Order: sequence, then structure tokens, then C-alpha cells
Amino acid sequence: MPIKVQPMTGVLAAEVTGIDLCDLSDVELGELRALICQHEVLIVRNQSLDPAQQSQFSARLGPFGEVPFIATMDEYPEVIRVVKEADEGASFNFGGVWHSDFSFQAEPPSFTILSAVDVPPWGGDTCFTSMSAAWAALNRAMQEKLHVLDAVHSARDAYSPKMQGVHSGMRGMEIVCDDSANEQQLHPLVTRHPETERTVLFFNRAYVRDIDGMTTDEAQSLMAFLHLHSTDAKFGYRHRWQAGDVVIWDNRSTQHFAMNDYGGFRRELRRTTIAGESPKR
Ligand code: SIN
Repeated sequence: MPIKVQPMTGVLAAEVTGIDLCDLSDVELGELRALICQHEVLIVRNQSLDPAQQSQFSARLGPFGEVPFIATMDEYPEVIRVVKEADEGASFNFGGVWHSDFSFQAEPPSFTILSAVDVPPWGGDTCFTSMSAAWAALNRAMQEKLHVLDAVHSARDAYSPKMQGVHSGMRGMEIVCDDSANEQQLHPLVTRHPETERTVLFFNRAYVRDIDGMTTDEAQSLMAFLHLHSTDAKFGYRHRWQAGDVVIWDNRSTQHFAMNDYGGFRRELRRTTIAGESPKR
């Protein structure tokens, strides 16, 4: 059966039908990879992958990325369970602020695969924004200014020891904060996507903590602008989960966050990340 592609917005995200992620030929896999890069977020419904199947499918996209701070499944050290129990408080949820996964690493993940196990009857959507569209919408003067800058990425406000109390409130996930989260990684603020060659604003709210060479005030003001600009609804797609869904995103050209609006209900997804390369200008 040929793969059918239905775009979900005029900017990013597409739903594909006519494929079984557990039974992809090499040709279909190549097609799927190109579609992920092109649409930035790909939705595949009715897959219901178990952890072994998710690992096997993920590994076909590339070697697994390193998973810091978050405990993985005992039998599957590449899989994390993203869980919020029904009776956990509303004050915190995993992935609840705009970010791209592990951008503080020297080689952040290329793709993330999230599969839905248990979804609330409403809420818990995952919101995405296209950082290639956000880049393209900037005026020329701003593009020229950003092109030469490096952003300072750090997990310090997410996973350093001062954040342990926040994570310890979660019962479904184990997160161990440590001082390595204070390390910093410089990445160009504007990158060239290694597969599509599109220009991307490589910025995210959670892990970009500074702009190299700027005063604190200049950096804060630029980061506030970049956050507001890049998360405008016109660059976005919001995924309403159904059990069995698999959503694959290009972590090099998107930001995402999970809504925390399903108090009293349980939510469980499984996540794998594929290793990427050092972002290049
Ligand atoms: C994540 O940030 O990777 C998790 C997103 C989600 O739970 O929807």
C-alpha cells in the first residue's frame, strides 16, 4: 500500500497512513525519514508499539542518543516512560515548557519518537512549533544580526541539584539531578539542517540560557523576543493524542512542550531519541 501523507497545517506536521512501523521496507523507511525532515512532525496512528517494537523501529532511524538525568526502562535503556499519575499535583509536568530535547548536549538528538500508551480523555496535548518557519519569518536585518551569534545551552534550570525537589514530586518517573547540568554548550543560534539544508533558528526557551558575547540585559531581551516570536501560533501544530499514536519529530528544527491540563487523569507515553550531530551554521 502506498504511503499517504495528509498535512495537518500549512506550516508543519503531517499524518501518514498506509504504513506499519514494525514492518517497513528499507525504501519505506527512507521515504518516512524524508517526510519527517520535510514536515518536521509526523503522526502515525494505530501503531500501539510495545517497548521492544519502539526500540527496533527507532534504531532503524539511527543509533540511540544518550539519555541524561532521566531513569530509563530496566530492560530497555534507550526508552523512557513519560508518566504523570492521576493523583499527581498540577504544579509540574515533564516537558511542560518549550524546549528541544537535550539541546544542551554537544550533539543533540536528531529525532524523537513518542508513542502513546495511556492518554487522558482530554488535555495532555503536545504542542510543536517550526523553527525553520520562525526563521523564515524574521526580517533581513534580524536574520543578519542572529547569523553570527552563538547561544549558550545549559540544563542548569532543569536538572541541576536545585531542581531535584521539583522532580521528586513525580511518582511515575525517576529523575536524578546532578552538577553536570551546570555545564554549558555553545551552539550557533542559526543552523543549517544537515538533511534538508533549510536554515533553522536553533533556539529554545528551556535550555538557551544566554547569548555568547552579549550583556545580560541584551541577551535577556533577545531571548524574550526569540521566544515570543518562535512560539507564535502561526508556526504551530498541537497534537491531540489517541492511544496507539506514534509521533516522530525532527528535534533539529522544532520546539515542543506538553500541556498540563488533565488533572485527575493518568498519561503515559514512551520516548526514544536518536543521536544527532553537532549543529552547524
Ligand atoms: C517531551 O518533552 O519529550 C515529552 C512531551 C510530551 O510528554 O508530550
